[in-house]
Amino acid sequence: MQNRTIDIAPSILSADFSCLGDQIKAVERGGAGVLHVDVMDGHFVPNITIGLPVVKSLAGFTSLPLDTHLMISEPGIYATQFVSAGAKMVSVHVEADPHLHRTLMAIKAAGAQAGVVINPSTPVVSVEEALQFADYVLVMSVNPGFGGQKFIPQSIDKVKRLRRMIDERQLNVRIEIDGGIDRNNIETVVAAGAEIIVAGSAIFGTPDAEAAVKELRNATVQWV
Ligand code: DX5
Ligand code: ZN
Repeated sequence: MQNRTIDIAPSILSADFSCLGDQIKAVERGGAGVLHVDVMDGHFVPNITIGLPVVKSLAGFTSLPLDTHLMISEPGIYATQFVSAGAKMVSVHVEADPHLHRTLMAIKAAGAQAGVVINPSTPVVSVEEALQFADYVLVMSVNPGFGGQKFIPQSIDKVKRLRRMIDERQLNVRIEIDGGIDRNNIETVVAAGAEIIVAGSAIFGTPDAEAAVKELRNATVQWV
């Protein structure tokens, strides 16, 4: 765990979409590292959000790298289309893709970072083989589908075990965590080994998204 960079990744799922541009500018000013975009298909998860046209328009608007979290069935069909739309990071759920190697390699060949995501009940060992093909692993600390859910505390130990698995193999794979992260638990998840910290309601659920990002960043400053 050397040379760690901690990135705050605001999730626009909790933003006010009637003024999305303003909200994104606010988190840019706050020092966000990436912008987390939750893509849901109403099939893999029980919610429908946004897709390719929105990613394309955001890519032309913000200087932040777009981190697209695909909560969709058959992500292999769509993953590289998100790269073409401007995403710099594309992650797919291990539970949704029996052909992870192919999908991860295709994302990388298209020019983006490839991530693999695990649900709260999916064991760390399920990504053991895929680690060597991935740029990052996203640990879900809530069940995917909705913002504003309660953090599942067992995720901390899961991040620790994943960190160990990555470090033992001397792989250059970052850990992202997503769901229920706020000012009270961010230090714990970073201490456990997470480096890309997604936060939706803790940022856009407050009256001042810029200040909320700054506060989360300050809470992790000892690690940077
Ligand atoms: C949930 C999404 C998350 C969500 C996080 O399925 O993947 O990215 O926006 O929101 P909070 O931070 O409110 O839990
Ligand atoms: Zn997400």
